[in-house]
Amino acid sequence: GKVRAPTHIISTISDDRGEEPRYAGVPMSSIIEQGLGVGDVISLLWFKRSLPHYCTRFIEICIMLCADHGPCVSGAHNAIVTARAGKDLVSSLVSGLLTIGPRFGGAIDDAARYFKDACDRGLSPYEFVEGMKKKGIRVPGIGHRIKRGDNRDKRVEILQLFARTHFPSVKYMEYAVQVESYTLSKANNLVLNVDGAIGSLFLDLLVSSGMFSKPEIDEIVEIGYLNGLFVLARSIGLIGHTFDQKRLKQPLYRHPWEDVLYTK
Ligand code: ACO
Ligand code: LMR
Repeated sequence: GKVRAPTHIISTISDDRGEEPRYAGVPMSSIIEQGLGVGDVISLLWFKRSLPHYCTRFIEICIMLCADHGPCVSGAHNAIVTARAGKDLVSSLVSGLLTIGPRFGGAIDDAARYFKDACDRGLSPYEFVEGMKKKGIRVPGIGHRIKRGDNRDKRVEILQLFARTHFPSVKYMEYAVQVESYTLSKANNLVLNVDGAIGSLFLDLLVSSGMFSKPEIDEIVEIGYLNGLFVLARSIGLIGHTFDQKRLKQPLYRHPWEDVLYTK
């Protein structure tokens, strides 16, 4: 019979052995001929399937809206300082990316996990938020440094409008909005932020599109695919900030003494 040599790697998302690479079985030329976009490529390479147009459009809107948020945020600041230290593009980019985490841009997966668990268990926003407080955990997807109840995040509004118009159901987003109403009654900066909006809405996409089985949804949430959207999106801005600093021939950055409280 056939003797099969053991392999060291298993791969299921792409194959470059034929005439042209295939993403989840779809030849590259077909992706281009069909006029598909980056949302479709993400669907194929991350989720291993073609998704309906409204889903791939939603993915693309997330990428566009999270591409940049000015020079003052953690990621851009790191990339700028690194570029000004004379480092190359990749170093500046990863220096910015390394700030993405539970406080900045990387709260999407946890927002999806906590909102799903609380909503599925039928917890009221009061029970959920106060329960988190008792555990000493800040609610992921809630809170912002500069956005307020009376100065909402436009990105959140755009995502919510798109989903309300195109998604079959926005159950998890509505739950997140109820949580926000409760947190806003506690403090004006405790808005639903862009991480929370994407986390709750991606749950709605996974559940209501009918494209994923329950075990698949659980796996996606457990592994944590969704921070990838912010990482991918923000790379666009971080690369832009790096080019900007180099174009402007900016010198080595040194933080001013006046802005440091030296104390014992
Ligand atoms: N849940 C519950 N209470 C909160 C939350 C939250 N998510 N955020 C702030 N608070 C309350 C707390 O009582 C906090 O006091 P504490 O320091 O004793 O816990 C108080 O508000 C003041 O908080 P600050 O630290 O002053 O808020 P700050 O403006 O520094 O934090 C931040 C902003 C980091 C976004 C915060 O709200 C947070 O941790 N949110 C959860 C993580 C998250 O969603 N991050 C993504 C932000 S969007 C983005 O990065 C693209
Ligand atoms: C961002 O997208 O970087 C922001 O929401 C964070 C911030 O502090 O403005």
